[in-house]
Amino acid sequence: MKQLSKKEASIYYIKQYISIFACPFCQMEMQLNDTGTMSCVNKHSFDMAKQGYMNFMTKPVVSMYSKELFEARQQVIASGLYDPLQQVIADLLTGEQRILDTGCGEGSHLARICTQLPNALGVGIDIAKEGILAAAKFYSEKIWCVGDLANSPFQSESFTTILNILSPANYEEFKRLLNPNGKVIKVVPQTDYLKEIRVQAFADSEKESYSNAQTVERFKESFAKVNVQRITYTVPLATELAPKLLQMTPMGWHIENIAAVELPQITIDVDILVGEV
Ligand SMILES: C[S@@+](CC[C@H](N)C(=O)[O-])C[C@H]1O[C@@H](n2cnc3c(N)ncnc32)[C@H](O)[C@@H]1O
Ligand SMILES: [Zn+2]
Repeated sequence: MKQLSKKEASIYYIKQYISIFACPFCQMEMQLNDTGTMSCVNKHSFDMAKQGYMNFMTKPVVSMYSKELFEARQQVIASGLYDPLQQVIADLLTGEQRILDTGCGEGSHLARICTQLPNALGVGIDIAKEGILAAAKFYSEKIWCVGDLANSPFQSESFTTILNILSPANYEEFKRLLNPNGKVIKVVPQTDYLKEIRVQAFADSEKESYSNAQTVERFKESFAKVNVQRITYTVPLATELAPKLLQMTPMGWHIENIAAVELPQITIDVDILVGEV
């Protein structure tokens, strides 16, 4: 039997879940044809790329995140640095999950969380095409979309969980997308997040310290029920991952001589905010 191309496999997969999509212009239902064009009755249409992701942006967006940044992120996440964080998130999710990762980047968090949830549907959206391209290349049996999380191409109440990891948020849109018992899980950096890089990038400046207090406050105002859990850990870092880590975070871009930086260990320190409507 002929092997399906990446695009054909994606068309077949997305057709099963076509009911979650809504036109980002007129909010009408969508259809997906056999060549990978998704369209509404008002003839707004969006194409699937050959790598199997859907593109809902009508104009390209200039992103500060490059292909190299997403590839570096993928390697750092593959090393297991974020495994304890992913585990806490996976443990919060039970039953038949439909998960939307907003600002998913190159998709590793969603893919790795979903390996623990065999019945989950995983959908990732990011405005940066380079991120989604990397996600679609590496992870199949997921739905990857280039699009704006503030005006997403999905029907109301389509998801049980919205993930929002180290990314900007739009709580009104998240509430529209969640089903009645759904939850938003937002991850925000805490004071010691990647502190070993921070001290070298911003020594003696006010950026050396960091506060997420405003973000947490806004989250608390936006949801009726909120739980905040902090997780902190420091782990050894393989020598070859240090330049990747510096490349994957805007903080690292402030360091001129990357080769001189030593990062024998690295700290992850984040708040996990869980909100219910
Ligand atoms: C710091 S990265 C985090 C990526 C990923 N969640 C991770 O932790 O590896 C922030 C991401 O948010 C995305 N982003 C920013 N504004 C967005 C928007 N309006 N809609 C969708 N994604 C957006 C960026 O393209 C970027 O991939
Ligand atoms: Zn439309």
